[in-house]
Order: sequence, then C-alpha cells, then structure tokens
Amino acid sequence: MPLEPYQYLSPVWKDGIFNNKVVFCTGGAGSICSAQVRAMVHLGANACIIGRNVEKTETMAADIATARPGAKVLGIGAVDVRKPEALNAAAERCVKELGAIDFVIAGAAGNFLAPMDQISSNAMKSVLDIDVLGSYNTVKATLPHLIISASKHRTDGKNPPTNGTGGRIIFVSATLHYTGTPMQSHVSVAKAGVDAMAMSVAIEQGPRGITSNVIAPGPIADTEGVARLSKKEGRDKTAKAIPSGRYGTVKEIADATIYLFSDSGNYVNGEILVVDGGQWHTSKVGAGQWEYPDFLLKGDAVQGVAGGKKSKL
Ligand code: COA
Repeated sequence: MPLEPYQYLSPVWKDGIFNNKVVFCTGGAGSICSAQVRAMVHLGANACIIGRNVEKTETMAADIATARPGAKVLGIGAVDVRKPEALNAAAERCVKELGAIDFVIAGAAGNFLAPMDQISSNAMKSVLDIDVLGSYNTVKATLPHLIISASKHRTDGKNPPTNGTGGRIIFVSATLHYTGTPMQSHVSVAKAGVDAMAMSVAIEQGPRGITSNVIAPGPIADTEGVARLSKKEGRDKTAKAIPSGRYGTVKEIADATIYLFSDSGNYVNGEILVVDGGQWHTSKVGAGQWEYPDFLLKGDAVQGVAGGKKSKL
C-alpha cells in the first residue's frame, strides 16, 4: 500500500542524496526493513529486496517503487539467507539489473518466544543460522560490490562528497542481550553475534572506506516483531514503561538508516545505534508481557503471541 512520506521518513533529508545508488536489503519485505528501503528509494536510490516468500517480496518491491516516480525496485523471492549460493545469485542479479550495490541492510531475522528448555537444538540452530550465518552470507555476497562503491565514494569530512556516499552496511540487531531477556536466549545469542560481526567488518574493511554499523530497534509499533514477541493486552503497560512513553515507529528506524548511510554518518563506524526510546535502560521483565517467573516454573509454553509453540524435544 503506497504510504505518505511522513510514515517512513522525516522531511529533514534532501531529495536526491541517493541518486544513482543501489541498496540491497535482506528481509526487505518486513515492516522495519521495507521502511528503511522505502526511505532510501524516496531519496533517489534504486533497490533490491530479498526474501523467502516470493509473492510477499515481489508485492512489497512494487509497493516501495511508488515512493519515487521512475524508481526501480527488484523483489527477489525464494532466497533463504541460510543458503549462500542463493544470496550470491541475488547479489549478482542486483548488480546486473541495477548496476551496483552501494548500501546493504542485513535485516533478515528469525524469532519466537520460548525458554531455553522448551526449544530444540534445531530451533536454536534455525535462529542462529538465519541471524548470524545469514548476516555472514549477506556480507560475503555483497562485500566485493561494497568495496567497489566505497572506493568511488571516499569522504574526507572537509568537502561535500561529489557523488554522494557508498560502501556502507547496516545490520539490524536488537537490545535483548544488553541486560538479558527471558524467552529470548536464541535471539540474544544470535544478535550478540551479529553485533560482533558488524564490528569485525568495520575494523577489517574500514581501511577500504567501508562503514559497518548496527541499528538496534526497540519495540516498534505494527511490526511482525511486536506481534511475535508481545501480547496485545500487555502493550499499553509496556509502552508506559518505556522512557519515551510509547512504541517507536518504522519511520524512526528509517531516519536512523539515512543518518548512517548519508553524508551525516561518514565517521560513524563499528557503532551500535540504539533506537528504542530509552527502553533498554529499564528492565523488560514484568512489563505486562508474561507472568514471570510463574509460567516458566510450570513448564508452560508462551501463549497469546504469533508463532508460540514448543519444539519436539
Ligand atoms: N518454540 C519452540 N520451538 C519453536 C518455535 C517456538 N515458538 N517455533 C519454531 N520452533 C522450532 C520448530 O519446532 C523446529 O524445531 P524442531 O524441528 O526440533 O521441531 C525449529 O524451531 C525450526 O522451525 P521451522 O519452522 O522448521 O524452521 P524455519 O526455518 O521455517 O523457521 C523460525 C524459522 C523458527 C525462526 C520461524 O519462527 C520463522 O520462520 N521466522 C521468520 C519470521 C521472523 O521470525 N521474523 C522476525 C521478526 S522479529
């Protein structure tokens, strides 16, 4: 569904700052990543979004393309980030059809709520594979193209870049592992790995002009993450417990993306930008999400969230 610009972007950014640039995004049909890509497209970029579901990915690509007349947005479905050969083929297709990969958003993720004693080895592996290995596969498939882009778009911080910026990657992570979050061991371990990977890319590829950073969203309204990870009836209580007093919006994550990818983010490298209204500084436990620790001690599965079940142990 075409969106009003303010639903995905603040009006403070300059039109055309990403003209002739290409953004490649895994998980691009999701609510947060599609807003990030839509904002980039609005500001001039063409895009390639990657997903597992063909119809969902292609439909979202066509929708994102409405953000700017003449925009080209490829939706490449049937790509599982756990399969390096599928990602390599997607990156090659993106470069062949759109000419380059200047920006990468590693956004594909897997999540559900369950305590560690209710998940199988395969469940743990699925999340680690999607988040950690999937991010690694994304970096491997796109790095040669990012290096080419970075070499053309080096910035010195003193003069405006003549052809804009390029050679930048953002990993979409989480704040779960900063303080520890029950029912989220699998994702906490995975996102800690994603954060570490982003830092490694920054220190290894920084000398080539690449920047590699993390955006860690807090609870963002109307997203699959919130549907999967919180009960409807607890959300008002949760919002009150967030220092900013409300859930975030996908636009607020998109704005953080533009900050890091544009001339404003040149010297930010190897950092985590937390966009959560201050939530991680408070305890997430007991904010109306579940009866902690009663149901855990009873051995019950998490009820009332999308995707809640017990593995075959
Ligand atoms: N509790 C415990 N185990 C669970 C579970 C839950 N809520 N949901 C899935 N699992 C287990 C499955 O039972 C299976 O383990 P098993 O083979 O030992 O039974 C394992 O996880 C893999 O599940 P499967 O559905 O086969 O894997 P998948 O690769 O298709 O799905 C998931 C990956 C599990 C991460 C799934 O939740 C998913 O597809 N998520 C994508 C969307 C998403 O999470 N986005 C993130 C928004 S924040």
